[in-house]
Amino acid sequence: MNVKIICASYTGTTFGIAEQIRNACGGEIIEIRSRDLLSRFVAFMARHSPGMTVRDSGTLPDNIDLSGSDLVVIGTPVWGGKPVPAIRKALAALTGCRGKKAVIFATCSGDPGTTLQVMEKELLAKEMIVAGQFSLTEKEIKDGTPVAALIAKVQETLRQG
Ligand SMILES: Cc1cc2nc3c(=O)[nH]c(=O)nc-3n(C[C@H](O)[C@H](O)[C@H](O)COP(=O)(O)O)c2cc1C
Repeated sequence: MNVKIICASYTGTTFGIAEQIRNACGGEIIEIRSRDLLSRFVAFMARHSPGMTVRDSGTLPDNIDLSGSDLVVIGTPVWGGKPVPAIRKALAALTGCRGKKAVIFATCSGDPGTTLQVMEKELLAKEMIVAGQFSLTEKEIKDGTPVAALIAKVQETLRQG
């Protein structure tokens, strides 16, 4: 099974979930980093905040081809109730996605706003099937149960083919 796990992550939370999914289900993580003004500003602020570690990895491919993939998992941090710019750009870059299944997730401190709806709308416009969607708060991530539910959904969707 070929699973693509697309994520962006500035302080590691979303990437940590992506790693848990890869460890449980296999697949390849594609970490996205955007150089737009907001993303650079947030990374700058975080880098200058005591105790914060900022990830410095990822690329922004012009094209993310899903034609050889059985499933795509897409994870984003929530910024201002929306997906981060890097993930909005990654969604726009998806090709070969007609009829492909996606599981989407958002990590946030408490209020995901319209993040999942924005992602779902973009994927439906590309004629994809959104098989599951999860919003995970930092508290829930520590607890672990919702992350286990997300992983179970990825495994179930893969079994269904
Ligand atoms: C610029 C910015 C805006 C944010 N906006 C929200 C928000 O609207 N709602 C929320 O619950 N959390 C918000 N957060 C918190 C992040 O979504 C949360 O910490 C996320 O898990 C970070 O993921 P990461 O470590 O993968 O970057 C915001 C964080 C930043 C830096």
